[in-house]
Amino acid sequence: MAFATRHFVRAASSDAATAAAKKLLIKHVTIIGGGLMGAGIAQVAAASGHTVVLVDQSDEILKKSTKGIEESLKRVIKKKFADKPEAGAEFIKKTLKNLTTSTDAASVVHSTDLVIEAIVENLEVKNKLFKTLDKFAPEHTIFASNTSSLQITKMANATTRQDRFGGLHFFNPVPMMKLVEVIKTPMTSQKTFESLVDFSKAVGKSPVSCKDTPGFIVNRLLVPYMMEAVRLFERGDASKEDIDVAMKLGAGYPMGPFELLDYVGLDTSKYIIDGWHSLEPNNPLFAPSPLLNKLVEEKKLGKKTGEGFYKYK
Ligand code: NAI
Repeated sequence: MAFATRHFVRAASSDAATAAAKKLLIKHVTIIGGGLMGAGIAQVAAASGHTVVLVDQSDEILKKSTKGIEESLKRVIKKKFADKPEAGAEFIKKTLKNLTTSTDAASVVHSTDLVIEAIVENLEVKNKLFKTLDKFAPEHTIFASNTSSLQITKMANATTRQDRFGGLHFFNPVPMMKLVEVIKTPMTSQKTFESLVDFSKAVGKSPVSCKDTPGFIVNRLLVPYMMEAVRLFERGDASKEDIDVAMKLGAGYPMGPFELLDYVGLDTSKYIIDGWHSLEPNNPLFAPSPLLNKLVEEKKLGKKTGEGFYKYK
């Protein structure tokens, strides 16, 4: 029995070793979309020693992305290298050396290990991109989407590499937020999943895993919570100010639900809830809100437009 147990342990550990050996060590990353999220992901990937190509539609946008990354790196070194300005300057130099930009995704994916897509939240546009890149990227390359609300499976199905396709959901602002949700579809291979988990750790994040279900973990809990707050207010049960105070002082949340909705953007929140409602029309958690729809129609989208549930002047 003792021998059998030892044998089993040896066999199990050698299985784990084989699986580990099979994992893809991601060194070269291509990030498509140099907006809020893509630029942040490019920054943390380059800062952790990866070779990064950031792709967007024009040089003008990419110039803005690079400038944003430089500014963000300056803020990072103020904290991280407060007493060592020379080391801080060296850190920025090294990070920027790891980063290049391009306006032609198809021509830069030939030697990449991982493509992270962070473009506009539109399934058709994302699928068109993945379909094209599937033809140009090497066979071993893993594709990942940073989508907040779309199904990863639908994007994987636009390619021939469903087993090398997963979700990597970063949070805004990327350099600050520690979490990454690693999404596994029914077709994602264990090797792909583990490679994405390792990559998330390598860029300094704490990965959690979730199946390809609407909202994954964080948004699945957060969005219905915010919608429930809107419904509470719509019914006249409490004022929005009191709901915000209640959740901050009573639940210890840093922001109330209405402050958070204004921060996220009411259009983004509406887009997410409408998408889920069309997937599951009978789920009361995903029911649309007339008040939210009205505010979006009036272009009161939150902080970014100067008014949402609150006024910002
Ligand atoms: P954004 O609008 O700031 O940036 C998108 C960028 O993609 C733009 O610079 C645009 O020019 C570029 N782009 C669009 N189509 C392209 C194409 N075909 N090829 C190359 N570049 C293209 O958007 P953001 O906020 O960075 O969101 C990107 C993705 O990340 C979306 O899927 C969103 O759902 C997701 N996400 C957003 C979060 C947020 O808080 N904003 C949080 C987590 C995920």
